[in-house]
Amino acid sequence: VRSKTLTDVLSKHASREPISVITAYDYISGSWAQAANCDVILVGDSLAMCALGYESTTEISLEEFRFHVQSVCRSPGEAFIVVDIPFGSFESSIEKGVETAISLMRCSPKVGALKLEVGSHKPGAYNPDYSLKLAAELCSRGIPVMGHIGLTPQRVHSLGGYKVQGNRSAQQAAAIFETARELQKLGCFSLLVECVPHKVSQYITETLNIPTIGIGAGSGTSGQVLVQSDILGMLPGRIPKLAQKYTDLHTQSVDALKHYVSDVTMHKFPENDKNGFKIKEDVWREFL
Ligand code: KIV
Ligand code: NA
Repeated sequence: VRSKTLTDVLSKHASREPISVITAYDYISGSWAQAANCDVILVGDSLAMCALGYESTTEISLEEFRFHVQSVCRSPGEAFIVVDIPFGSFESSIEKGVETAISLMRCSPKVGALKLEVGSHKPGAYNPDYSLKLAAELCSRGIPVMGHIGLTPQRVHSLGGYKVQGNRSAQQAAAIFETARELQKLGCFSLLVECVPHKVSQYITETLNIPTIGIGAGSGTSGQVLVQSDILGMLPGRIPKLAQKYTDLHTQSVDALKHYVSDVTMHKFPENDKNGFKIKEDVWREFL
């Protein structure tokens, strides 16, 4: 099947239809997202925490991340695939950032665009930093870039934690808006807006022309993204307020696995007639 192109995604936005985005981490989760007919699959670096058990997205290496991108890209389906640029793989120089971006695009011909977290070196005010420069450099080299604004988890330390952004002062909200406007100007095809008051993200969406994809940004964005492990309840425990659990896969899975363990323990599985393989009577007699 032919994958959706950037043009397909943008024309959906032009016709004011909401864009659906789901994260995926491997072939299985990619195949599930594809089968659900989402418009876009995001191979987010949240995979570090949601699929690999790291404490922070800053821990995953580019090499590990590329391995997962490749497996998601093997999932069959039409979704447009966007890939994160992980922490530590682009900050040292523009050259390094461009090389990393190329290596991510080259994971698979199905990688359609990259996502870059951008921000200010003084959070709370508009101080465009290196990341905006890199976004511009990537766009100027023909690599489609989705700018990620608001709460940018790779900057958890400079932001002082995983907090809502743009709700504490007018200046803070204005900084996010200015960043959004600048990213559109320098060529980003879309923005991911994370944990921003819904009034601010709606204002950004109405003011800009490019589609905004929200997570914890309310209903006024051009599309929505959620982390697949939150949607499916893959991990035990609470999910963030911004998400919604549509099923409890963790409980269902553990129950099913317990059932199997108990069947093995009680000699109920396997059943020779159902799960086993026969040998012809004459072959068996000869063997004996
Ligand atoms: O890595 C990720 O999953 C993200 C979220 C904002 C969807 O970037
Ligand atoms: Na991410």
